Amino acid sequence: MEKAEKLKELHEKWQKECKCALKDTGVRAVFGDGNPESEIIFIGEAPGKKEDELGIPFVGSAGKFLNEMLENIGVERKDIYITNIVKYRPPGNRDPEPEEKSDCREWLIEEINFINPKLLIFLGRHSMNDFFPLEKISNVHGKLLKKKFKNISCEYFLPLYHPASALYDGSMREVLMTDFQKIPKVLEKIDTGITTYVK
Ligand code: URA
Repeated sequence: MEKAEKLKELHEKWQKECKCALKDTGVRAVFGDGNPESEIIFIGEAPGKKEDELGIPFVGSAGKFLNEMLENIGVERKDIYITNIVKYRPPGNRDPEPEEKSDCREWLIEEINFINPKLLIFLGRHSMNDFFPLEKISNVHGKLLKKKFKNISCEYFLPLYHPASALYDGSMREVLMTDFQKIPKVLEKIDTGITTYVK
């Protein structure tokens, strides 16, 4: 069986097993999307209205800006894999509750380990804080973090601001564009095997 088919089975299994209360309010589960062979996984927060309607992550206005930043560094959206920490839309796009995040967590961990990327890129502080609860996005955005978690195969993490932040604050556009341009270099750096771990 192809990796993409196996990944679909993984999502379908979790769609049945996931206990997240947002199942009752969201229209559908929004599975991760893209290339299952990707060396990068982008992790957002939770689906919004458009994502809930279409069942695809990052297809609304934040997604359009994300696609633009990817194009800028010569990467096509179909080449990367993108998912969310929570697979269902929180009502009115509120932040997901800690319990909703923890209820979707095993799903995300299995998804990450199945794809086995070289780098996880957090889109926004909610996604980053799910893995690094003590870090502040304003301190670590655009900086490569290395950490060995006992249940995750990937050891390299790059926190970025959420693309939606640029929709409300024009100055964030430049910050995000600059951080995105670091991605190819970060991948090269990982290949050289940097050894500095963060706490
Ligand atoms: N914001 C997210 O964090 N995820 C999406 O899928 C869309 C917008």
